[in-house]
Amino acid sequence: MDTIIMKTDEAGAIEKASEILNAGGLVAFPTETVYGLGGNALDASASSRIYAAKGRPSDNPLIVHIADTKDVYKLAEEVPEMAETLMEAFWPGPLTIIFKKKALVPDTTTGGLPTVAIRMPSHPGAYELIRESGIYIAAPSANLSGKPSPTTAQHVIEDMSGRIDMILDGGAVGLGLESTIVDVTGDHPVILRPGFITKKMLEELIGPVEIDPALIKPDKNLRPKAPGMKYTHYAPSGDLAIVESASGTANDAVVNKINVLAREALESGKSVAILTTKEHRDSYGVSLSNDNRSDGQEGCLKSAQVILLGSRSEGATVASRLYAALRECDEKGIEVIYCESFRDNELSGAIMNRLLRAAGHKVITV
Ligand code: TXA
Ligand code: MG
Repeated sequence: MDTIIMKTDEAGAIEKASEILNAGGLVAFPTETVYGLGGNALDASASSRIYAAKGRPSDNPLIVHIADTKDVYKLAEEVPEMAETLMEAFWPGPLTIIFKKKALVPDTTTGGLPTVAIRMPSHPGAYELIRESGIYIAAPSANLSGKPSPTTAQHVIEDMSGRIDMILDGGAVGLGLESTIVDVTGDHPVILRPGFITKKMLEELIGPVEIDPALIKPDKNLRPKAPGMKYTHYAPSGDLAIVESASGTANDAVVNKINVLAREALESGKSVAILTTKEHRDSYGVSLSNDNRSDGQEGCLKSAQVILLGSRSEGATVASRLYAALRECDEKGIEVIYCESFRDNELSGAIMNRLLRAAGHKVITV
């Protein structure tokens, strides 16, 4: 299939996209978190097409995007007061809330669950698309299943070209990590996926909030409550490891360890990338001259690629660049990746959740 690509603010783009959605087709669009792959949430066959386009297991439910708080009452069987408080405070914005679903939401959209995930995005392009189409848009992140989520239209084009009807290009997204997911269907609210809306921000409004225990310590016997959290995710093709000090930060010992490991990998003939921060960028000087290369090649110097994620003190910048950095490693055919740990900033919950899963929980402590 030919995929139409238009800028979000191009004349006729939103109209074309909503025509496609109303005809049961699929449109990728920008949100403030990551690009979404949208289809009509109330049309089971559109949801099936989403799973197929992503190569996603059909037991992993989709988030339903709305543009008006009132729509929650049409989709959810029950709207607890606590949820109303959160909707009031954080919508539109990067918070997804899990409700008991009404029968009109197809089981295909919710992966067979009796609950439905709902979010109101704040991105103007997403908002306009939902308004113009007049439907509820089911949208997972617009990446192939298992790959890092797309933060630019180019990422979507790489994964979805030829697989979906249209891509709306709204440039780079603002936040870069998926929404926080909170489940309000039980006795206590539970975070199923950490994001920009932190536990602390939720607790200030609704009291104690639990974090799904399966997220805190990976344990094969614990099943995450958000089905999507059980799959390996966000993984680059190369072998990624996180390096940290005992206190969870990146210090001189971490830098030294990464330099040693990167050199070893280069010497064994592997291509290497180091994901780092402004604070440490200049401390990585790993390169091999021709005389100590073991692969016998001549004529070029081999060195580790140093990829900058931002300053350690600016979690938001690191979050916004993480997925693009992982994709850059794939583009460059990097085989071994070392990344500094990020347990020391305000967004460490969200950043480390994604990073640990991308690394298959491989952490080297120095
Ligand atoms: O920021 C976001 O949330 C982005 C943008 C596009 O809105 N969307 C997104 O969707 O990240 P996706 O499909 O990549 O992740 C949705 C997560 C999955 O882990 C899924 O298992 C979980 O939400 N989820 C969806 N419905 C659920 C439900 N009823 N109960 C528990 N978890 C649910
Ligand atoms: Mg996703």
